[in-house]
Amino acid sequence: MKKKLLFLGPPGAGKGTQAVRVSNKYSLLHLSTGDLLRAEVIEGTELGQQAKQIMDKGELVSDELVLSIVKGKIILKNDGWLLDGFPRNLIQAKALEALLDKINQQIELVILLELADEVLLERLLARGRSDDNEKTIRHRLEVYRSQTSPLVEYYSSQGLLKSVNGNGTMEEIEEKIEEILI
Ligand code: AP5
Ligand code: MG
Repeated sequence: MKKKLLFLGPPGAGKGTQAVRVSNKYSLLHLSTGDLLRAEVIEGTELGQQAKQIMDKGELVSDELVLSIVKGKIILKNDGWLLDGFPRNLIQAKALEALLDKINQQIELVILLELADEVLLERLLARGRSDDNEKTIRHRLEVYRSQTSPLVEYYSSQGLLKSVNGNGTMEEIEEKIEEILI
């Protein structure tokens, strides 16, 4: 079974939802940079204060800041992990590779969750996180297209990428993911 995973996909595609389900089921370390950043915001750290303004606008937080959070976390558990919302651009993808090289590990599978914009928008508006308003969601989508979506080709050309349609119930999508993991 593949246990070193990345979840890729636009905002609201269901990365976090599925990451929690899959990582609980297979005891993987779930690392979401969005969750880690929001935890910093709640704690009111300086890093959190810097990040909040950027997150509320739907921009990407600087690579330096994100990488400083990620470093050290993967090393904690090398028998399986699931990265959700990271890497977010080519710089982060290359930094991740360097990090993994050092600990002699490799990505085994990248799962791309795909969902139409209208469905994403509807799901996110219903959730109502502080960055879930229409203006910010549309900007997050633009940022995804321009900065994150090049990773689809990047991982696809390495033969690592598999796509999963994000339509359907949470259970149905989890099943589809499990089929490609095993
Ligand atoms: P992040 O937290 O990563 O947010 P995101 O990518 O915009 O994605 P979401 O978490 O909104 O969506 P998701 O795909 O996880 O879907 P979810 O499962 O929640 O990033 C937030 C911000 O932090 C960024 O904008 C950036 O500023 C910063 N950031 C984070 N990482 C960064 C990085 N690496 N570099 C730089 N900046 C970074 O589902 C969405 C909703 O749909 C939920 O309410 C859920 O219950 C519902 N739902 C899920 N599945 C289904 C289903 N099958 N049917 C019906 N509803 C469903
Ligand atoms: Mg998420």
